[in-house]
Amino acid sequence: MDKKLNWGLLSTAKINRALIKPLNASKQTRLLAVASRSISNAESYAREWNIPRAHGSYEALLADPEIDVIYNSLPNHLHAEWTIKALHAGKHVLCEKPFALTLADVDAMSQAARETGKVLEEAFMYRHHAQTLKTKEIVDSGALGKLQLIKGAFTFPLTREGDIRSKKETGGGSIWDVGCYPISYARMIVGADPVEVFGWQLTGEGGADESFVGQMRFEDGIHAQFDSGFKSPSRSMIEIVGTDASLNIPDPFKPGKSNEIILSRGDKQEKIKIKGGELYLGEVEDMCDAITQNKSPRISLEDSRGNVAVILALIESARLGKPVNPAYS
Ligand SMILES: NC(=O)c1ccc[n+]([C@@H]2O[C@H](COP(=O)([O-])OP(=O)(O)OC[C@H]3O[C@@H](n4cnc5c(N)ncnc54)[C@H](OP(=O)(O)O)[C@@H]3O)[C@@H](O)[C@H]2O)c1
Repeated sequence: MDKKLNWGLLSTAKINRALIKPLNASKQTRLLAVASRSISNAESYAREWNIPRAHGSYEALLADPEIDVIYNSLPNHLHAEWTIKALHAGKHVLCEKPFALTLADVDAMSQAARETGKVLEEAFMYRHHAQTLKTKEIVDSGALGKLQLIKGAFTFPLTREGDIRSKKETGGGSIWDVGCYPISYARMIVGADPVEVFGWQLTGEGGADESFVGQMRFEDGIHAQFDSGFKSPSRSMIEIVGTDASLNIPDPFKPGKSNEIILSRGDKQEKIKIKGGELYLGEVEDMCDAITQNKSPRISLEDSRGNVAVILALIESARLGKPVNPAYS
């Protein structure tokens, strides 16, 4: 590829820091601009992170003709609106998880991507990591026997007052913020969406859930269970159980450069070592490959839609106090 793709950061969100290093390191990308609602904020951010251009509004970034790709790191309730605006401004978009908060929004985002012919992908970085790919390969090889159960957890103590993750109006709630990972992981491992879900939640002062416990039933007798929360210590795990063996992934969502997963068969345990790359480089390169080589992004829009549908069904189940069949159409 002779021309680098110019990326622009839509906001000065904390998560940008995870993307800045890969964007500067990749041979395919140049981090050209950042936008903030205030020009002084954009300028000081650009100085701090050595970004050539600062824009004082999101509209100005979308109007910048040299930008090829937008990284949408806005709060959850703004993902759909600004992704659609960016696509119609002729930009490709890597949009943070959770992709959107309603199926109507997911569909409008997908329609905008179709109409404009631009690449749109959800930023689930763990999906591109060697550990995730190896885990999926082991399950698909039949090494665990018939798949029975996937258990997962993602919790951490959220202590910052007024954080967007604790407020319902900004799309907060632990299920949207971190529960989306074990849900996404289980759906990826099964390779299908659940037919029935059941959830319980504890809601905080901001109106969003502070902890969520959920179950999912897939076709073929496969089940999944997970918990997410802001009031527990930092925990993340996935366990995949088959009829013959089980696989433990102690660090499933933020794997590093050197990782270990454990295959247990009877009383024997095998530690499988996996070398991984820079965690967030995978999603950056996947976007670039989709743009320059016309490849399908690893995370399809149907996949992102399925995750949102399952989250919505789990929230509905918690509200009703009974199982719900997710609406996929
Ligand atoms: N993939 C991952 O590993 C990962 C990790 C953390 C978060 N995330 C996702 O990334 C997104 C951002 O999360 P974050 O924790 O980085 O957010 P954050 O630090 O709170 O930043 C959000 C940014 O959005 C802009 N903004 C626009 N309207 C806003 C509003 N009404 N309230 C607050 N901010 C507003 C602000 O930028 P300006 O002031 O510059 O306009 C703000 O800096 C979320 O969707 C989250 O789920 C992903």
